[in-house]
Amino acid sequence: MNCLSPSILSADFSRLGEQIRGLDEAGAQYVHIDVMDGRFVPNLSFGAPVIRSIRDCTDRIFDVHLMIEEPGRYIGDFAEAGADIITVHAESCRHLDWTIESIRKHKILAGVALSPATPLSALTWILPKVDMVLIMTVNPGFGGQPLIPYTLEKVRELKKIVDAKGLKTDIEVDGGVSFDNVEEVLGAGANIIVAGSAVFHGDIIENTQRFLSVLNP
Ligand code: DX5
Ligand code: ZN
Repeated sequence: MNCLSPSILSADFSRLGEQIRGLDEAGAQYVHIDVMDGRFVPNLSFGAPVIRSIRDCTDRIFDVHLMIEEPGRYIGDFAEAGADIITVHAESCRHLDWTIESIRKHKILAGVALSPATPLSALTWILPKVDMVLIMTVNPGFGGQPLIPYTLEKVRELKKIVDAKGLKTDIEVDGGVSFDNVEEVLGAGANIIVAGSAVFHGDIIENTQRFLSVLNP
């Protein structure tokens, strides 16, 4: 089954709880939560207190994408706030293996993210230790950007590597996914689709259901 992970970065924060309940009712399996520190990426979003306060709104999987420098410092905070999966950027960790281990110690799922220009070779040794790889299809930091076409080639290559190794690693694609390109993204090998502006601009429930019907026809 392919899964949808709507990114709440594009939500109306004055109605965040209500909008998350809407995603849940519409059937989205994940909630994608973008944490930004103004250093790793040139934007700020929110941190663990916000995650803790929305944890009561849904039992769906909290897919926490950390776009922060040295995320290892905060794994405990995000795990305790209610993350089900924590994804860190390979580019932001001085000791990626250590950070992945620290996520595992909290008995939650671990993901690693690659920004567009980072080669797949960054994953060679860590791949068997992670549950998910997040391929950024835009430069991290902002919602509403167009998907960078070459990143889909990376998804195709990653899918080949995962299959060749006999792994069950989830492949998540994040950035610029729309109704126009989602089939191509799935065809490249992604099985978890993040969508921010394409879900939250307009009718959230209708958009979620429309994505889900394309994801699992
Ligand atoms: C970008 C974030 C994305 C973003 C996606 O740095 O990681 O999750 O919210 O938004 P859209 O789908 O609008 O590109
Ligand atoms: Zn994200």
